[in-house]
Amino acid sequence: MTAQSDTLATPGGTPDFDLVRQDFPRARTAAYLDNASSHPLSVHSAAALHRYIDWVTHEVGEPWWPSWAAPRNESKHLFARLINAGPEEIAFARSTIEAESNLLNGMREWLSTGNVVTHDLHYSAALYNYKMREMEGLDVRVVKHRDWGIDIRDVERVVDRHTRLISIALVSNVNGYLADVKALSDLAHAHHAYLYADIIQAAGAVPIDVKAMGIDFAACSTFKWLMGVKGFGFLYVRADLQGTVVKPSQPSGGVRFNYAPWVEKPDPGLPEVSITPSSGPASYEVSYPSYEGAICAQESLRYIHRLGVHNIRNHVRALTDRLQEELPAIGYPSITPRGNESPVVAFVAQDPPSTMTKLRHAGVHAAMRWGNKMRISPSVFNNQEDIDRLLRALS
Ligand SMILES: Cc1ncc(COP(=O)(O)O)c(C=O)c1O
Repeated sequence: MTAQSDTLATPGGTPDFDLVRQDFPRARTAAYLDNASSHPLSVHSAAALHRYIDWVTHEVGEPWWPSWAAPRNESKHLFARLINAGPEEIAFARSTIEAESNLLNGMREWLSTGNVVTHDLHYSAALYNYKMREMEGLDVRVVKHRDWGIDIRDVERVVDRHTRLISIALVSNVNGYLADVKALSDLAHAHHAYLYADIIQAAGAVPIDVKAMGIDFAACSTFKWLMGVKGFGFLYVRADLQGTVVKPSQPSGGVRFNYAPWVEKPDPGLPEVSITPSSGPASYEVSYPSYEGAICAQESLRYIHRLGVHNIRNHVRALTDRLQEELPAIGYPSITPRGNESPVVAFVAQDPPSTMTKLRHAGVHAAMRWGNKMRISPSVFNNQEDIDRLLRALS
């Protein structure tokens, strides 16, 4: 069965996560607990992708590309709804890091007279981008975490009237730390600055409301908690900041020729070659987005909406709470703050190679990052048996 049905819901209205598990065949072969690296596809997204591949290979089924353009538009609407933005605030993007970089390019003028504040739990490649721009003269202030969280007072100390942007990861890829985003956006706005959130470790896994959270810009691609593929994602730019604070940074579009043989009668009032600059989200997009990405995203975003992000969060919380409880007791101290509301938890391993060997032998997938930091990131298809398997392997 590949079509999404309503059978996932129990009579009480909450999803039946045993049925959800069946939608992810990868759950049958291993305890895959590394969704923060890359999320498996559901059978529904895979089937949609197969239909597309059949069409591009054999031209079967669909007449021509407009029918495949529909997923593009629907994926944008579904994503906008997921984060409580308007579709006119969403541009297609290819990668989170590229989108943040394009955003910064578009904000060059705005940033040129001030500073950017970020912190060391933001994604490493994003910090690299800021350090590169620092070499070109941008004033960049990197706040250090305390006990694997960010103390707002440390941010307050470096934000000043010249701050133009606070840039964070909403959920850290290192330890899952969920930022106190409202406090940060309030701080930014009180200084006439803006807040950017990298939401790749959050979208689809934790509730996001860009309006209530005061997020001005955000970006993600779809291969993690949006259960899609690499190379396709979204950039959110608050409507009133489009074209003003954020200028288009990647010109893309077509030209009009005004001379023969392009036109029969050239218009003497027009230049020989002219353009109409695009506006809105299109002004942040280049050429075609990945159709493969859009097709997967359409299917997986439908799926996520059907499950409900709150239900997803509740399901995963039971698994991460148990890890937070039991792993420190067997010698793996946690570096994720207690009560943290994200699906990612991390622990210090005394002997990383031996830990990874034990996990591999037990058929358990987790990540070891930054030397000795074991990251575990369960999702909708994981269950307590997967956690049993991991705990057995490490005890
Ligand atoms: C927090 C965070 N930001 C950005 C990225 C990179 O995303 P992309 O490949 O979409 O640029 C990752 C990937 O692990 C991540 O965890």
